[in-house]
Parts: sequence; C-alpha cells; structure tokens
Amino acid sequence: MTTAQTSQLTPAALPPSVFTLPQTAQLEALYTIIRDKTTSRGDFLFYSDRIIRLLVEEGLNHLPVVPKTIETPTGSVYEGVGFEGKICGVSILRAGEAMEAGLREVCRSVRIGKILIQRDEETAQPKLFYCKFPEDIAQRYVLLLDPMLATGGSAIKAVEILKEQGVPEERIIFINLIAAPEGLRRFCSKFPALRVVITGWIDKGLNEKAFIIPGLGDFGERRYCE
Ligand code: URA
Repeated sequence: MTTAQTSQLTPAALPPSVFTLPQTAQLEALYTIIRDKTTSRGDFLFYSDRIIRLLVEEGLNHLPVVPKTIETPTGSVYEGVGFEGKICGVSILRAGEAMEAGLREVCRSVRIGKILIQRDEETAQPKLFYCKFPEDIAQRYVLLLDPMLATGGSAIKAVEILKEQGVPEERIIFINLIAAPEGLRRFCSKFPALRVVITGWIDKGLNEKAFIIPGLGDFGERRYCE
C-alpha cells in the first residue's frame, strides 16, 4: 500500500493555463469516495458524475461573453451578458465518453465529437484510430473531455488532431478529473496558447505502469465494468 497523497505543486507553481476546482472539504470527500477501491460501481458513477458536473461548469466559466441587454418581466432593462460563440464537446474514447452526459446536462443539445487514440504496438506512440467531429468544429470552442491526465500522450495527440481540423489552441478547454504533474507540465509546455486546462485534483505522480498515484485505478474499468 502506498501512502502517497497529492501533488506538491502549489497553485503558484502551476502552468498559468491550469485551473483546479476549489479544493474544498466537500470536493475532497467526493474524491475520497471515487478513489476508494471498495466503492461500488453505482456509487462510483454517481459521485464521479457530481465531479464531472462541477468541472464542466468551471470550464464554461472560461468562455468569453459579450454584453447583452434584455428586458425583465417587471419592464426593467437589464444589462447582462451572453455567451459569445458556439461550443462543442470532444471526448477521448473510451473513458472520456463518461463525461458527455455531464456536458449535455449543462448545455442542452450540444454537439459532441469523438476521438479514439490507442498505443501503436510498433512505435509505442499514441495513434489515431477513429475520429468524428461536427463539420464546423473550426468555428467552435471545444471542451476536450478525458478523465485522467497521466503521461499526457493521448491528450497531446488529441489536441494535435483538433488543430489539424482548424481549431486554434486558444479555443480548446481541456477538462479532466485527476492530473499527474508530469503529464500536466508536458501537455502545457506543448500547447502554451491553449485556453485552459481544468482539473479537479492534481495527484502525486505516476507509477511504473503509468497509473496516477494515488489516483483511482482504471477509470474506464471502474465506470463500465462491475
Ligand atoms: N487512465 C486511468 O484510467 N487511470 C490512470 O491512473 C491513468 C490513466
């Protein structure tokens, strides 16, 4: 059993594009449930969904707004704001698919693309196996969804593919539940102009099998398998 806890990365030491959720006792309690190996699949689904919802809301906080004036039912004029551009989600399969429902709950009828990246057995590099995007993705802000940022390999490949589709780094918001510091640094140094990385928790590091420590194990297995 390891006693490793969370990262020594202080907020000041984080790359400037990285934002974490407020590290409250409430959030830590949610993470304690999903990290616990004895947690049932039902509870894992319920509590990881709660965190995903918080992450999506935080991601939306980083979208630009424009002034918008409306009239309220009292006849008053209200000078508010409205979202500036169109968005879409892109999930990195398969684990990222688990975050789609959380995005749909918040953004009704949002368009969602998918990317399947796997390790190429010959080169040991991440390789694109499948992708499907909204046809106008280059005009949208993209919320890129993947729950675990470990080495950063898949996320880097996914952003390269999005850039090939014409999506500028400045329009990409990468959302994940747990990040390893080494993956986070690698990802952020590769894409300095990327809009933001929203992560729920930054853990201590990676083990020899590239699992996040303390982490929660294999997110896909815990989410989809009994
Ligand atoms: N993917 C997972 O599901 N878990 C990890 O710890 C790392 C990558």
